[in-house]
Amino acid sequence: MSGRARRWAVVVAAGRGERFGGSTPKQYTPLLGRPALSWSLAALLASPAVDGVVVALAPGDRRWKRLPESRDPRVRTCVGGDRREASVARALAALALLARDGDWVIVHDAARPCLRREDLAALISATRGDPVGGLLAVPVPDTLKVDDGRGRSARTAERVGLWRALTPQIFRYGLLRRALALCIERERAVTDEASAVEALGLRPRLVPGRADNIKLTTLADRDLAEAILRAGGRK
Ligand code: CTP
Ligand code: MG
Repeated sequence: MSGRARRWAVVVAAGRGERFGGSTPKQYTPLLGRPALSWSLAALLASPAVDGVVVALAPGDRRWKRLPESRDPRVRTCVGGDRREASVARALAALALLARDGDWVIVHDAARPCLRREDLAALISATRGDPVGGLLAVPVPDTLKVDDGRGRSARTAERVGLWRALTPQIFRYGLLRRALALCIERERAVTDEASAVEALGLRPRLVPGRADNIKLTTLADRDLAEAILRAGGRK
């Protein structure tokens, strides 16, 4: 009697948003009048495939309580760490009494407010039964240049086979905990879950996603995100 594998979402919202700047942390920057984090949670909370959500918050975060999502019974919080992978690891630890090793964990950046329900559904369906898991990603469309360190193009890099990694990324709970613990222990910096899993010699499935699932990185991304949300008919 093993029961069906459940799916947990982890939303990492504990960053400092240094490149974004401003007085409001970027995860709370308003987009069409609603904080970015609310948008980033929307597709996950709308999915019947998601059993529960953990949001990793910065220490002393006083904005979360003002979000309507903070009162959703499926959502719990934890305090994040000093690096993204530490925030994910803490959210996984917060699930320890609920999640089994074979459950799925869907990790998403609070800074990606434009995730569409269809992309989340595509990720879940493409990895159903997969031995490793996978991530939303987009093939790199542009010609890539390598500079010479002095502002001139030294050569053109091979673009074939290159993808941009997005979130969400989905892995089995036990596997992801092990993979991240190993990277943290070895002080190996990882910018996404897939790279931690790759370090174990495994190959996460690349699931083609929408290029407009952008990450808020600098202030200029805010206008772009609002345009994407508006164009998607979301309000
Ligand atoms: N994140 C986190 N804990 C950290 C660092 C990052 O939960 N210690 C989260 C961010 O809140 C964001 C996501 O990871 O939702 C992606 O990280 P990034 O875009 O780098 O956000 P920041 O680290 O906040 O921004 P910056 O690097 O410019 O300071
Ligand atoms: Mg960062």
